[in-house]
Amino acid sequence: MTSPKIAKIIDSDKEFLFQNYGERLPVSFTKGDGSYLFDQDNKKYIDFFSGIAVCSLGYSNQALKKALHGQIDKLLHTSNWFHNQEQIEAARMLSETSFPGKTLFVNSGTEANEAAIKLTRKYGLSVSPKKYEIITFSKSFHGRTFGSMSATAQEKIHKGFGPIVPGFTYLPFNDIKAFRKAVKKDRKIAGVMIELIQGEGGINVADPDFVKEIFETCNKNGIITIVDEVQTGVGRTGKMYCYEHFGVTPDIITLAKGLGGGMPVGALHAKSFLAEYFTPGSHGTTFGGNHLAASAVAAVLKEMKKKPFISKVNSSSEYILKRLIEIKSKSGYIKRIKGLGLLLGFEIAEPGADLVREALAEGLIINCTAENVIRIIPPLTIDNGPLEEGMNLLEKIILKKESLNENTKA
Ligand SMILES: Cc1ncc(COP(=O)(O)O)c(C=O)c1O
Repeated sequence: MTSPKIAKIIDSDKEFLFQNYGERLPVSFTKGDGSYLFDQDNKKYIDFFSGIAVCSLGYSNQALKKALHGQIDKLLHTSNWFHNQEQIEAARMLSETSFPGKTLFVNSGTEANEAAIKLTRKYGLSVSPKKYEIITFSKSFHGRTFGSMSATAQEKIHKGFGPIVPGFTYLPFNDIKAFRKAVKKDRKIAGVMIELIQGEGGINVADPDFVKEIFETCNKNGIITIVDEVQTGVGRTGKMYCYEHFGVTPDIITLAKGLGGGMPVGALHAKSFLAEYFTPGSHGTTFGGNHLAASAVAAVLKEMKKKPFISKVNSSSEYILKRLIEIKSKSGYIKRIKGLGLLLGFEIAEPGADLVREALAEGLIINCTAENVIRIIPPLTIDNGPLEEGMNLLEKIILKKESLNENTKA
């Protein structure tokens, strides 16, 4: 039953907002605490979604709130015409937690990837007038602005917008042979852009041999490696950065989502030699890394650097995986379990939209991506209590759904 409050909100949404997000779920949250969210009627939900892997420290996190309140009281924005100590500190921490290099702050994941595409082309074209092509992979998702959208190797994302940006070569994900062939044939390759776990594409983990081949080939041939860590970055996969699982170091990483713990901020972090190619005037943004956004990044990274942070991500991940395996053994509803750390998913044999709505009605927020992959991406700080509660609910919903499906068949 839709409550009168949400019915009114839904009507106003339709009247005043673009309807480009499909049908929004019938709920509007008004506050959050830890891994719980509360809706317009004060109903409590366990959050296994964290605003698409954004609220890395959960809701109402004391350290983040303190940093933001302190910064709001001092200064929000001055522009990139001036030095900005919060930005310098956030960049220093990015270098310290990833690899030595330089950082450019932006406002979103798509902008971080735009910057990576432009930087890679600028570098490539300085080597040879034809070296501008960037390889990306099937089922990738790099964003919605024109460059990142064109980098995204999914026709459905391009459809209806006319000519996309040229200069991208799409290859099948995890296909070593296709990669070898493309690099041999095409001397114009300037870079390779890859998500080591495809988040929007269905939690597809890259094959370690595939990654090794890409990095060895690129490093040998002066091809820039760009790892899109917008979804996988800053602790999400049980390492600070997903590339660490594969024993490689990229030339560029792009970050957003969890980086600001809910503040809209993105970043491109690159090896220092590359930073030289963005000469004065070649790239920029008004808001990128303003005082408030940068103070959020520094506060998030400071929390994540504390010893127990990443090990808690891994123990929460182990618990979810254990429970998913148990549920899978009791029910044919789960076909395949995928992912790393707290970027987990399971494939089901039907579209997942109904399961998401049923879970929401029971007070559990999950998400479906790539049609039939249920994504579990809770706050990285989730306590054992909501974690167990959430998995118990998920089990109940799945077993109920399966028995309903069986009855319909019978
Ligand atoms: C891997 C990846 N890259 C880029 C983006 C785009 O980020 P944003 O929505 O912040 O522009 C996303 C968003 O889902 C993503 O998952």
